[in-house]
Amino acid sequence: MIPVIMAGGSGTRLWPLSRTQYPKQFLQLNSKLSMLQETVKRLGAVDQVSLICNEEHRFLAAEQMRVMNQPCSVFLEPVGRNTAPAIALAAIEAVNKGQGRKCLLVLAADHVIEDEQTFQAMIAKAQPLAQEGCLVTFGIVPTHPETGYGYIKAEVNQPMPAGGEGQDVLSEAFPVSEFVEKPDLATAESYLAEGGYYWNSGMFMFRADRYLEELGKFRPDILEACQKAMADTSADMDFVRVNTAAFEACPDESVDYAVMEKTDRAVVLPLDAGWSDVGSWAALWEIKAKDCNGNVLDGDVIAQDTSDSFVMSSNRLVTTLGVDNLIVVDTPDALLVADKNKIQDVKKIVAEIKGAG
Ligand code: GDD
Ligand code: MG
Repeated sequence: MIPVIMAGGSGTRLWPLSRTQYPKQFLQLNSKLSMLQETVKRLGAVDQVSLICNEEHRFLAAEQMRVMNQPCSVFLEPVGRNTAPAIALAAIEAVNKGQGRKCLLVLAADHVIEDEQTFQAMIAKAQPLAQEGCLVTFGIVPTHPETGYGYIKAEVNQPMPAGGEGQDVLSEAFPVSEFVEKPDLATAESYLAEGGYYWNSGMFMFRADRYLEELGKFRPDILEACQKAMADTSADMDFVRVNTAAFEACPDESVDYAVMEKTDRAVVLPLDAGWSDVGSWAALWEIKAKDCNGNVLDGDVIAQDTSDSFVMSSNRLVTTLGVDNLIVVDTPDALLVADKNKIQDVKKIVAEIKGAG
């Protein structure tokens, strides 16, 4: 198995802490380790990891992996083209090394998973399924109609095709009858009401050759661009630079839209391991320890008559009085004050700043 960590996202929903220069996967949000380092740690002992990130963050990534003592090849993207191409780079590398039948364990670099033992047990269960040619997804029981996730409809009445080593886990895995990436609110609500849907955790396991086969079937343009980018790489210390022009010409698409929505080889293994996508300040507030008023207070903060709020200060005293359900994040050069229910829209602020710059 080859762990493949995708660490090229921009993490704009955690602005102003997460910045273009320092996106959230490199931040210590929930522990003394960064989210990337936590991702490596929860794997346990592994020989080698493939990390795919933006050129701009190469030293940050390399230094964080060095601290973890984790041998790692780092693929550098000159521009972000989302996750379908990122995974393709690692898959092509495996095939080029004669390891096309190896399973890739594709992980996001920005998740919190509380129960590492259950996570590792689930990885072990996924392996025989992936080895047989399935594209394994890990499904989380949804708690609310989140529109930022993919939804997986499990074919619960359909037994898994029998055979091979996967026999003992067949009872736990279900074929995927429908995969819908980021539905609108009304659709997400209808899925919750109907039942039988899981959230896509954003982690996958499949053989490298099988992923490329599926990508070639549904998005030959992406496969071709990635093959060109990998046909002309340059090595620089532990970094592998892909061909800039070829990768820039690659369409921008996530693995969810490019492959998972379309393939008929997906299966879902339900995962109950305290998973959380720390996709927003509200999500971070959810998982952090709160005081008796439901507040998460971080740094030099005084909160009087304040409830259900997240107040964070990085370098000066921040005080709140008589407020409820607020997100306040103070950094040396930017301050965010937001209604917790509207926090997904912080992306609009980032877009406005980028537009102005
Ligand atoms: N190398 C690389 N290049 N990595 C990337 C890129 C890229 O261009 N874009 C994103 N990533 C990384 C991010 O850093 C993150 O670790 C992971 O890929 C997932 O990307 P997100 O941008 O965070 O995806 P998402 O949260 O909107 O949606 C995905 O995750 C959800 C669960 O967290 C989807 O898989 C959803 O279906 C899923 O529910
Ligand atoms: Mg995410």
